Amino acid sequence: MKMWDGRFAKPSDRLMEEFNNSLPIDQRLAHEDIAGSIAWANALARIGVLSGDERDAIVTGLEKIRQRLAEGTIHFQPNDEDIHMAVERLLTEEIGTPAAKLHTGRSRNDQVATDFRLFVKNALTDLSGHVINLQRVLLARAESDAEIIVPGYTHLQQAQPVSLAHYWLSFFFLLGRELRRCENAIRTADLMPLGSGAVAGCGFQVDRQALATELGFAAVSDNSMDGVGARDFVLEALAAIASLGITLSRYAEDLIIWSSREFQFVELDDAWSTGSSMMPQKKNPDSLELIRGKSGRFLGNYTRFATTLKGVGLTYYKDLQEDKEPLLDSVHQMQMVLQVFSAVVQTLTVNCSSIEQRLDPFLLATDLADYLVRKNVPFRAAHKVIGRIVAYCIEKKVALNKMSVKDLQSFDAAFGEDVLAVFDWKTALAGRDVPGGTGPTSVARQIETARAQLAANR
Ligand code: ARG
Repeated sequence: MKMWDGRFAKPSDRLMEEFNNSLPIDQRLAHEDIAGSIAWANALARIGVLSGDERDAIVTGLEKIRQRLAEGTIHFQPNDEDIHMAVERLLTEEIGTPAAKLHTGRSRNDQVATDFRLFVKNALTDLSGHVINLQRVLLARAESDAEIIVPGYTHLQQAQPVSLAHYWLSFFFLLGRELRRCENAIRTADLMPLGSGAVAGCGFQVDRQALATELGFAAVSDNSMDGVGARDFVLEALAAIASLGITLSRYAEDLIIWSSREFQFVELDDAWSTGSSMMPQKKNPDSLELIRGKSGRFLGNYTRFATTLKGVGLTYYKDLQEDKEPLLDSVHQMQMVLQVFSAVVQTLTVNCSSIEQRLDPFLLATDLADYLVRKNVPFRAAHKVIGRIVAYCIEKKVALNKMSVKDLQSFDAAFGEDVLAVFDWKTALAGRDVPGGTGPTSVARQIETARAQLAANR
């Protein structure tokens, strides 16, 4: 027996039933479905389609189902084709006749779009909270690691010295933009389709604005076909998560390299590493590798649903049922990824002496060129001079900062006694105190900005 089987002469094939069934996935929308149905019963009662008693019976019944769900005493049946049918069946068992009036003027098309928009809004709000928590951890690290100087890399070659705080803050600010992408996706989802019916709009004069207010939506959809057919909000949520996944993957990649024996810049806490079944000495940064690896999954989920959606005309086709699995998966995985990353960053130790040993004096080559520029040598000429000095150092196996003033003067007469001051890490950083630079004033200002951004997010 199906709720829609009036026009059918025989039941669906068993395989068709299994194929069509979405309950294993969409039962995660049970709470949204119940909330939507309670609001719908109220809306129908307001215009007299339901009597007060019928409304009360329906609302009490739905609340009972909500409570049983929380207790885990709900048993779904093979006949429950999706969460919407399951809730209606449970309501019928709970209260009898009045349940048959709940679906008046409503379609599963506007119902599922409403449920899923509610879900996406909540899920992205929750993820945003985890992003903000990671930002808090990064800011705390920046505050404590401001004095540590690390090589800044380009091409995985030591390029210029930077403060470790500057590095953590780069992560902080990028996450701020990821947050904005999540907020935009929330705004896109914040539109209520309920009252769109199957395609043409509800056949009863329900107060859609009151429905939106009750369900916490910012606005009511302007067009019923858009209301039931649009899934741009799903794509945008998947895209926001995929983008966040890529960002997290890139920083995971850095920390994986930094934790290697070759670098030894950081040591991951044992709680966030794993060992090898064969090699007793191994301690692997699996937490970070999984974060990097899952970025492919997030992109895959985006691609998967984008590919489905592009062929679906307006309005509702069953293809759209394929929207839930990728989004639920991305949300669930991203919840873990963000919590793991926060814990990894919070608990790792920075190996200052190892970093110091690996600071290559060539990191100061640009500062040496800038020194000549200050002595009125054109930058291109200065670049050439320093290039020759670097080649000389490599050939003679002399460290750049061990060159004497006389040695340097043999390359360019503009070098004076004051050049030795260039060979100091702190001086190098202090020389980059332009806004956004790695100098101490700039980093302090960045920390202030980061604090203000966090406070504004609260
Ligand atoms: N299970 C469906 C989904 O998730 C619900 C909507 C079904 N609507 C319909 N007309 N068959 O998309």
